[in-house]
Amino acid sequence: MEVVASAQPAGPVEEATPAEVSAPTEEAAPAPRVEIFEGNNLELLAAQPDGSFDLIYIDPPFNTGRRQSRTRTRMVGDAEGDRRGFGGKRYRTIKVGTRSFSDSFDDFLEFLEPRLVEAHRLLAPTGSFFLHIDYREAHYCKVLLDDIFGRASFMNELIWAYDYGARSKKRWSSKHDTIFWYARDPKNYTFEFEAMDRIPYMAPGLVSAEKAARGKTPTDVWWHTIVPTKGKERTGYPTQKPLGILERIVKVHSRPGDRVLDFFAGSGTTGEACAKLGRNCTLIDANPEAIAVMRRRLEFANPRIVEAERPSEQAIAAPDDKPS
Ligand SMILES: C[S@@+](CC[C@H](N)C(=O)[O-])C[C@H]1O[C@@H](n2cnc3c(N)ncnc32)[C@H](O)[C@@H]1O
Repeated sequence: MEVVASAQPAGPVEEATPAEVSAPTEEAAPAPRVEIFEGNNLELLAAQPDGSFDLIYIDPPFNTGRRQSRTRTRMVGDAEGDRRGFGGKRYRTIKVGTRSFSDSFDDFLEFLEPRLVEAHRLLAPTGSFFLHIDYREAHYCKVLLDDIFGRASFMNELIWAYDYGARSKKRWSSKHDTIFWYARDPKNYTFEFEAMDRIPYMAPGLVSAEKAARGKTPTDVWWHTIVPTKGKERTGYPTQKPLGILERIVKVHSRPGDRVLDFFAGSGTTGEACAKLGRNCTLIDANPEAIAVMRRRLEFANPRIVEAERPSEQAIAAPDDKPS
């Protein structure tokens, strides 16, 4: 595993060290390259050349993921106070507490928009973009995506339906996520129909035995379990998505040797799907915890890791250090 410490944005993948999944034979395709970048995706994406990815999948956090602190204050009358109010009366500000809060919904779209613009710029001419999003945000994101990619580029609204957890007695239980698919060029895009996995017929008795044995192709509603709570697949990363969902996307919307990007990579599900299916993959995440999980999970693919540059201990001045 090659580890590089750098504050520099990601360079072109051509510079990456090829990963070795298995010993290459003469006929074997080159082993896929997996690279993991730690840092703010917006800055790292800016360094990538136009059209450099054949497939981009992202699963952004429900909000921006930023936790912010807001200090609540209260004013009390005080002749020596730090603020002047009506009638020249003076007040003293009292800090009553610091509350941590998540970004509001409006901030989320503001956070997402420049990243979607980058995703559009980075797609190859036959490339596809996938946005995995919570059903409460989906409609607003669709409007944003139509604006950036063009309505004609909208290909599918995929519904990932699962069946886990408590059920509501007051409304229909929400058990799905939305995945939007946009093609850079709706007339010319990668869609490997034959690579699609098959699913069982609901009424196999109504079709021939041969058809029943083969199964049918999935529709835009994908029934798939969540990551099993005790399964081998689980990494412990809280928002991990099922490998089966990513494998289906990667198989159908890219070809071996293509370049795939996930810039909200989390536990590296996209990376695992790509490495196993022979696609090159660039993964970005700002959270060191995600980098640690990906490092373990993708060790088999010998990833190149570019860590965020942190100031060395010598570079951090102690509070009483005087400038020389
Ligand atoms: C919902 S999780 C992705 C989970 C992933 N699909 C998986 O299967 O594990 C979203 C990720 O986005 C990362 N993230 C949030 N803001 C980011 C930013 N500005 N730059 C890079 N990563 C960011 C978070 O650290 C988090 O790991």
